[in-house]
Amino acid sequence: MNKPIMKGKVYLMGAGPGDPDLLTVQAVQILRTAEVVLHDHLVAPAILDLIPAWTQVRNVGKRCGSAGISQEQIHSMLISAAREGHQVVRLKGGDPLLFGRVGEEMEALSRAGIEFEVVPGVTSAMGAAAAAKIPLTDRRFASKLVFMSNHSAGQANTNWEDVTSPDATHVVYMPGPDYAEIAGKLSAGGLDGRTPCLIVTHATQPQQQIRRTTLRELALERGLPAPALLIVGEVARPLPPLQDDEKTSSRKTGEPHEEILHLTDAPAKSEIIV
Ligand SMILES: C[S@@+](CC[C@H](N)C(=O)[O-])C[C@H]1O[C@@H](n2cnc3c(N)ncnc32)[C@H](O)[C@@H]1O
Repeated sequence: MNKPIMKGKVYLMGAGPGDPDLLTVQAVQILRTAEVVLHDHLVAPAILDLIPAWTQVRNVGKRCGSAGISQEQIHSMLISAAREGHQVVRLKGGDPLLFGRVGEEMEALSRAGIEFEVVPGVTSAMGAAAAAKIPLTDRRFASKLVFMSNHSAGQANTNWEDVTSPDATHVVYMPGPDYAEIAGKLSAGGLDGRTPCLIVTHATQPQQQIRRTTLRELALERGLPAPALLIVGEVARPLPPLQDDEKTSSRKTGEPHEEILHLTDAPAKSEIIV
C-alpha cells in the first residue's frame, strides 16, 4: 500500500519587537500548533515561552560577525521539515518582510514546491515609535518615512545622500556601534545639526531604553546595547510636558516607574528618557 502523502507548510512569521502582547492573534494560534520552529536570535524569550514544550525549537540566528548556520542551511532545514509533513514556523523579530532575508527563503520554498504563508508582525520601528510616542509622519514636519539599514548584508551600500531629507523621518535599522559615522552620513545628506534623534534599545521589552539627542551630539553615543533603532527627524522633537494629573492617570497600575524628561529644543547632551 502507498504511504499517505503528508503535506507540510511553512509560516514565515513576524514575532514583533519583543512584547508578547504585540504578537498577532494569528501568530499565537499558529505557534500553539506548530511542530517545528526555527527562530532568529532577536526573538524575545517571552515569545519563545509561548511555544508548547513538545514543539521542536531551534535557534538559527546569526549574530553579527559570528559564523553560525548559513542561509542555505536554513533553506534546507525548512524544506526538509515541510517535506516530512510538519507545520513549520520560521520566526523572525519584527515583521518578516523587513530586513529579514525572507525574499531568499520564499524563493527557495517556491523552487522546492513547498506551500508557505507570510504572517506579519509589528516591525521594531513601530514598536520603538509607539514606545517613544513619535508620530512618524506628523504632517507638520515629515512628508516621507524612510526605513533604511546601516548594515549592507552583502547588498549594494545605500547612498545616504539620496534618501536623506529635512522633511523625512529616517528610521535606521541595525545602526551598529558607530553613531559618529551615521551622523556624518546624515549631515552630508543635508540634515541640520539640531535635527532631533532618538535611539531606542530593546523596544517594548522590560530592558527598553530611550535616548534623546541631536544629530550634532549623536557621535557621542557609544556602548548602547543591541538591538537598537535610530529615529532621526523633526518628528522626534519632545512633546510639551504632561500636566501632573495626566502623568498619574496615564500610568498603568503595576508598570515600572517611567521618568520622562522633557528637554529644550537642542539638548547639549543625550538624555535617557525611559
Ligand atoms: C535583521 S533586522 C530585522 C528587523 C525586523 N524584521 C523588524 O521588522 O524589526 C534587526 C534590527 O532590527 C532592529 N530591532 C529589532 N528588534 C528591536 C527592538 N526590540 N528594539 C530595537 N530595535 C530592534 C535593530 O535595529 C536590529 O539590529
